Amino acid sequence: MSGIHAVKLAPSILAADFARLGEQVVEAEKAGADRIHVDVMDGNFVPNLSMGPAIVGSLRKVTRLPLETHLMVSDADVFLDAFASAGSDSLLVHWEGNNNLHRTVQRIKALGKHAGVAINPATPAEVLGEIVQDVDLVLVMTVNPGFGHQQFVRTTVSKIARVRELVDRLKPGCEVEVDGGIDAATAPLVVRAGATVLVAGSAIFGDREGVTAAMARLQTVISSSERPCRRWHVSASWSTD
Ligand code: DX5
Ligand code: ZN
Repeated sequence: MSGIHAVKLAPSILAADFARLGEQVVEAEKAGADRIHVDVMDGNFVPNLSMGPAIVGSLRKVTRLPLETHLMVSDADVFLDAFASAGSDSLLVHWEGNNNLHRTVQRIKALGKHAGVAINPATPAEVLGEIVQDVDLVLVMTVNPGFGHQQFVRTTVSKIARVRELVDRLKPGCEVEVDGGIDAATAPLVVRAGATVLVAGSAIFGDREGVTAAMARLQTVISSSERPCRRWHVSASWSTD
């Protein structure tokens, strides 16, 4: 199923049942997930702790999907090598708090990984102008990072549209991903604004009907919301091969 939808789905395992993590990731893969989103928190950059490279290493053995690692940590540089060795395919770092972002991005690329830059809800789209040419992906946070199952911040919709314009102008082909509070009600808003990759945690792993039913529901709303203009569509799917 992977690759059928122009807009991609990245289930976030933060909302998974960690006792059944492998099983749930395999189910998400079978249901058409395009990549798996791994949220890393250090208790300092955000007020929560989550997971480290060992989880990526374990997941690498059970899925062929790209593993996308979202580093919500105060010093991302410290962890790049460990996640790269564990099997992360892409490393997403925050603009906030990084005084040497360009260097961090170059290090990710030197490790042979896809590089992404994330911005928080209160960070303007325009800061991406000086880094977008160097990255494969920009991640627009649609909640304040740190926790799953938070309410979508509506003011980010117009920012996604500004990020889309900026990307089309400066780095066509760069993916625009959104993260936080994405469900069947908010997915159409972000897709119409120009997002091409949707992270969803609780809407997939927290759904009462299960992962497969939740993925199908999201895929349906995404398909019916896709913008007619697809000049940003990224032709090549990331592959672990
Ligand atoms: C928030 C994380 C998100 C989170 C999304 O800090 O970056 O990836 O898991 O969870 P939901 O989809 O439940 O808002
Ligand atoms: Zn995330």
